[in-house]
Amino acid sequence: MAALKTRISIENLNMFYGDFHALKDVCLQVPQNNVTALIGPSGCGKSTLLRCVNRMNDLIDGVRTEGRIIIDDQNIFSPETDVVLLRKKVGMVFQRPNVFDQSILNNLRFGLRIHRQMRSKSETMELIQKSLEDVGLWDILKDKLHHNARQLSLEQQQRLCIARVLILLPEVILLDEPCSSLDPIATMRIEELLRVLRERYTLVIVTHNMQQAARASDYTGFMYMGQLIEFGLTQGIFTAPCKELTENYITGHFG
Ligand SMILES: Nc1ncnc2c1ncn2[C@@H]1O[C@H](COP(=O)(O)OP(=O)(O)O)[C@@H](O)[C@H]1O
Ligand SMILES: [Mg+2]
Repeated sequence: MAALKTRISIENLNMFYGDFHALKDVCLQVPQNNVTALIGPSGCGKSTLLRCVNRMNDLIDGVRTEGRIIIDDQNIFSPETDVVLLRKKVGMVFQRPNVFDQSILNNLRFGLRIHRQMRSKSETMELIQKSLEDVGLWDILKDKLHHNARQLSLEQQQRLCIARVLILLPEVILLDEPCSSLDPIATMRIEELLRVLRERYTLVIVTHNMQQAARASDYTGFMYMGQLIEFGLTQGIFTAPCKELTENYITGHFG
């Protein structure tokens, strides 16, 4: 196995919603071309941590952040960071598939417009085809690109949301409980997709489903009350955790 490269380095990250200290001195090296899962009880700060990585928390009033997140040798919190570019490089997929009430085609073109990635029509179509192929939708949808995206099944909508991220040629993909509105079969298929995508991208997935973390991730971080309690190879975390708190959580003593 090739040496592990760090893609995102989170260093002494503290984050406050007003007076509330939501992330406490989090340090985490996210390995490149792997799936990293963040687990922990509801309210422990998983989504908050994920949203720090592409500065989505900037959109919330009263948020204050200390510490650093280094991506490509740059602290993303530094004033020089182009946040629009950052969010292109670090794409995000949400709990509920947030497709727009528009055609499949427009859903995919949307991000390209926002990021002003003007291209010729044929280049745009190539990108659209590639991104749909990558999420396993091209054969199903190629003759239906003008159909409304809301007519798709929830699983297909979530795949489309992933395609909408891929079309911007990201490097990191953050997924916040991407399967929570899907049935078990659709969930398995999205997990399979993540395993394929990790060959080319660095993935961080938040899940409250421990089975999902165990199945779908290479590395797991366990969070509790704003702290990253333990981080390591998923197999190790689930078979021989170092901390008692982690063990109590994964054995279902609380959560
Ligand atoms: N916009 C917000 N304003 C104030 N507090 C928030 C906000 N979002 C989340 N929190 C609080 O931060 C903590 C962590 O929330 P969150 O990151 O959503 O947890 P998780 O994703 O692990 O369930 C919780 O106590 C939550 O109530
Ligand atoms: Mg959450």
